[in-house]
Amino acid sequence: MKNKTTLGGALALAALLAGTTGALAFSNIERPAPAADTAATEEAPAAAAGAATSIYDGVYTAAQAEAGQAAWMTSCASCHGPTARGSSGGPRVIGPVINNKYADKPLLDYFNYTRDNMPMGAPHSLSDDTYVEIVAFILQSHGAEPGETELTSDEALLGSLMMGRNPN
Ligand code: HEC
Repeated sequence: MKNKTTLGGALALAALLAGTTGALAFSNIERPAPAADTAATEEAPAAAAGAATSIYDGVYTAAQAEAGQAAWMTSCASCHGPTARGSSGGPRVIGPVINNKYADKPLLDYFNYTRDNMPMGAPHSLSDDTYVEIVAFILQSHGAEPGETELTSDEALLGSLMMGRNPN
């Protein structure tokens, strides 16, 4: 009777250990999977971006910035001033604001903020193309030079362009 009980206890302990070992082995097997996923997402932006990786790589055209300036004068300048340096109605949106808030963020974040919040009181009131042109004007005013490639509202593209800090 006593031996039987001890044996039962030993078996239960063995089963418990086996279960624990099984669980550990299982978690070890699972671990490599997330690492492989991370490697895949790290490669994706570079592939989507082609050569350009930041807003300083000539990611919009001069024509887009010019069109954006006209839209800016109509929809944004009343609060942010004609050169985006701010007025009593709204803050400066270029220079330190971009450098400090967006240094480690993609252009997609800046674009989305603008489209989802501006003009104040009338978000989403402009077309995506117009928001892109206005962003091109802001980038030019901030010191990022234009290039040969047109900027679009494509999320993969905007997400692949880092804001960084103005190197000038
Ligand atoms: C009626 C006034 C008004 C108009 C018009 C307006 N804004 Fe704004 N904007 C503001 C105010 C006020 C803030 C600050 C909001 C806050 O801090 O929450 C702001 C903030 C911003 C910011 C964020 C700056 C930062 O600190 O990160 C951006 C970018 C911006 N506006 C872009 C635009 C653009 C582009 C347009 C035109 C399409 C526009 N705004 C039109 C009043 C305005």
